[in-house]
Amino acid sequence: MKLFECFLPMLILVGLVLTLVHTQDAQSASLFSFVAGFISIDCGIVEGSTYTDNVTNINYVSDADFIDSGEIHNILAIYNSYDVDTQLTTLRSFPKNTRNCYTLKPTQGKGRRYLIRVQFMYGNYDFKDQLPEFDVYLGPDYWQTIKINSSSKPINREIIHVLSSDYLHVCLINTGHGIPFISAIELRLLADNMYKESADFGSLHAFSRVNFGDAFTTVRYEADKYDRLWLPVSWPDSTRLYTLDKVYTSLSFNDPPEEVMSTAITPEYPNDSISMSWSPVNPTDQFFIYIHFADIQILKRNQLREFTIYLNGNHWIGPFSPFNHSTITTASTEPETVAPTYILTINKTKNSTLPPIINAIELYTLKQLPQKQTYDQDVSVLWSIKSTYKINTKNWQGDPCTPQEFVWEGIGCSNNDTESPRIVSLNLSSNGLNGDIDPGIANLTMIHTLDLSNNNLTGIVPNFLSRLRFLTVLNLKGNNFIGPIPAELQAKANKGSLSLSFDGVSTDGPASSCDGNTCKDSKDNKIIVPVIASVASLVVILIALSAVWIIKKQKEHGIGPDIRKQQYTYPEVQSMTNNFSVVLGKGGFGTVYHGFIGDTQVAIKMLSGSSLQGDKEFQAEAYLLLGIHHKNLISLIGYCNDESHKGIIYEYMANGNLESRIFGILSFFLNWEKRLQIVCDAAHGLEYLHHGCKPPIVHRDIKGTNILLNETFQAKLADFGLSKAFPTEGGTHISTAVAGTPGYLDPEYYTSTRLTEKSDVYSFGVVLLVIITGQPAITKHDNENIHISRLVNLKLAEGDINSIVDPRLLGDFDVNSAWKAVELAMACVAHTPSRRPTMKEVVMELNDCLVTERARQETKPKKLTGLMSLNLESAYDPTPL
Ligand SMILES: *[C@@H]1O[C@H](CO)[C@@H](O)[C@H](O)[C@H]1NC(C)=O
Ligand SMILES: *[C@@H]1O[C@H](CO)[C@@H](O)[C@H](O)[C@H]1NC(C)=O
Repeated sequence: MKLFECFLPMLILVGLVLTLVHTQDAQSASLFSFVAGFISIDCGIVEGSTYTDNVTNINYVSDADFIDSGEIHNILAIYNSYDVDTQLTTLRSFPKNTRNCYTLKPTQGKGRRYLIRVQFMYGNYDFKDQLPEFDVYLGPDYWQTIKINSSSKPINREIIHVLSSDYLHVCLINTGHGIPFISAIELRLLADNMYKESADFGSLHAFSRVNFGDAFTTVRYEADKYDRLWLPVSWPDSTRLYTLDKVYTSLSFNDPPEEVMSTAITPEYPNDSISMSWSPVNPTDQFFIYIHFADIQILKRNQLREFTIYLNGNHWIGPFSPFNHSTITTASTEPETVAPTYILTINKTKNSTLPPIINAIELYTLKQLPQKQTYDQDVSVLWSIKSTYKINTKNWQGDPCTPQEFVWEGIGCSNNDTESPRIVSLNLSSNGLNGDIDPGIANLTMIHTLDLSNNNLTGIVPNFLSRLRFLTVLNLKGNNFIGPIPAELQAKANKGSLSLSFDGVSTDGPASSCDGNTCKDSKDNKIIVPVIASVASLVVILIALSAVWIIKKQKEHGIGPDIRKQQYTYPEVQSMTNNFSVVLGKGGFGTVYHGFIGDTQVAIKMLSGSSLQGDKEFQAEAYLLLGIHHKNLISLIGYCNDESHKGIIYEYMANGNLESRIFGILSFFLNWEKRLQIVCDAAHGLEYLHHGCKPPIVHRDIKGTNILLNETFQAKLADFGLSKAFPTEGGTHISTAVAGTPGYLDPEYYTSTRLTEKSDVYSFGVVLLVIITGQPAITKHDNENIHISRLVNLKLAEGDINSIVDPRLLGDFDVNSAWKAVELAMACVAHTPSRRPTMKEVVMELNDCLVTERARQETKPKKLTGLMSLNLESAYDPTPL
């Protein structure tokens, strides 16, 4: 483990000097020096077209110049929502050939370090609704298998790789599980001193890259001049820190962007640790860890922040103190010991008066890409031949010689594990070639067989052929050459070292058959080939210019006077949401956008204007919300009722919905106490609707996605769109509108078509079971849908609580409270409504569970707080949460 220390006074000096440079020349520097190292390909857009992305300002080009196979498609319109990057809306698919390759030739060439990113979004482009799975290779080497698991969710993979050839081939291999496709390819040149381990140990496949202290936006170009994606995260039990002052970053290895280093988290309680966990995708994956720290609070004289980092219980690094407003990076110096799960803990030292802090973490797994690609000079000759003679009927894609099963047709290669393969034979017989013999052939210096017979070649037979010192077979028959065979060539043929065929005049010498000793001898000759070694850049970028980061100045008071005004016009809503630029989700009858009123974040649900049903729902919801106030019910901030534009403005819930927290992208590790607290909150909200409102209100759509979590994980019920106030006391409760969600809907509804409070209790019971088990409401077993209540019932018979409770809890829960919660949940999902408890009873029982679990927590040794999963691989996803 190493700790990159920076000499502080010098750092500040350098920082100041370069800040001056920055102000003078920021624009041209960032455009010239860094974008120059970018190749940005949008697959599937019209050949020859380019555009500038309006989010990143990066210029994208069509993929047609990088590949000559495949079909172009668009994702279906229903998947093309506001938050989908433009690059993901088109794609190229490959119904033909097992292997199809893109070939990139970055101007900086081999020996340099690049970030390579590939993106995939299916979007049901082929109307088949079949999610494919295929392999991606970098040149001859397997990189990864892409398993598309959703039509709407993009997949995004990155690798940091030092090119060993001037050509980079990104190849898609059909493995028999659907048609491969790709949406975007991006190549970013990195500085030579970044991610050095990628040269020493192997390439680094990005597993996770997280920016702490920002729960909302993905940071990328231009904030990050290397266009890495830094994902937002909201962390349980933590306090968010940020600074508006400059944070120096550039002397840190890997050069994290200042925007990322300006935010951090620290535990809510001063004695707590910061803990996080992740599990490898493959059990043998080896991890490299980089953690970036900068203290962004101003410490008082008697304050100290000092901490030690442990990995899987072993000392990893420290104790040390992060620098004030400048970055320090801790990193693995070699791959970490392989483990089934990794737990990283940052503990404050005894002397430390402040809890630990963390600004960002990067996790990579080691990927070996060992195979040598074909010798660059030979490759460039073949590409020139391919374009000169317009050869596009053959399988001439990717690297010519590797891997062996995809060697280009008509080509023979030398095989030597330690050196780059060379072209030793070229057979372009009967390929309809026109024009002169390509002069590039002079550079195929290792060739021994050249067959150009039966084409329409014209011009003279060039003399350079006689200088190909290993050439033993040359067939030029069946062409329209003019003039004689060059004398030198003829002399070789006469001497017998060359078998020359030239329009009926065969001059076969004794060496014509290549299984004699003559050939073997010539092969064994050791040739000194001038190797043009790429000159590694000696320039170490001390401070690179970063884009100016502007943070909105936060007002002194979180909620401005504006907030009390409840009705907003459509233009006001447009400006609040920055013209509806960020989609938070899509609900029953409208899209929910992120916005600001002053400095307060809000969520705005806009109704699709034409829907009459939606219009009624809107009125119902606005009416309900205006009259109801409870800490566990989502509260209304305002609304917009501008003719055809109707919207409801809610408080913003930073941690999204419960379902995504259990199953989603950044699925948190929620401990047992947190889970009980969340269901208690939700139960309180529902109890209030049933027993605190007159007339009582049936929610009608209780489920995980309608339970929202704020920044402190307090739960609130949302989506009152389907709610119905009871008509009269003891009335019939009959409703005709279809309601509910499969798996959560009271089965009694199918026979009675009535929804009562007890229907909500049923749905709530399902939520409880989902939270307890960590399983979805409906699972598929042998193609049969099984409801969670059935699964739990089967396991109840075994009498083992551990087989029911979510295994991710690792048995860390109070057994009595777990039993009680399971029994309560099963009572809630009883088939006969009258046997289900009321929400009053549910609240009481859950409170008991929580009290028991809390009592256990107090007697337990120091707990790991904020233990959260960093497993992002399954959905390495740039879209905001
Ligand atoms: C804590 O501080 C005291 C006093 O400055 C010092 O003597 C001691 O070595 C420190 N302990 C550790 C573990 O750093
Ligand atoms: C080149 O290929 C043709 C057919 O594709 C074959 O008949 C011929 O023998 C090959 N030439 C050499 C030198 O192997």
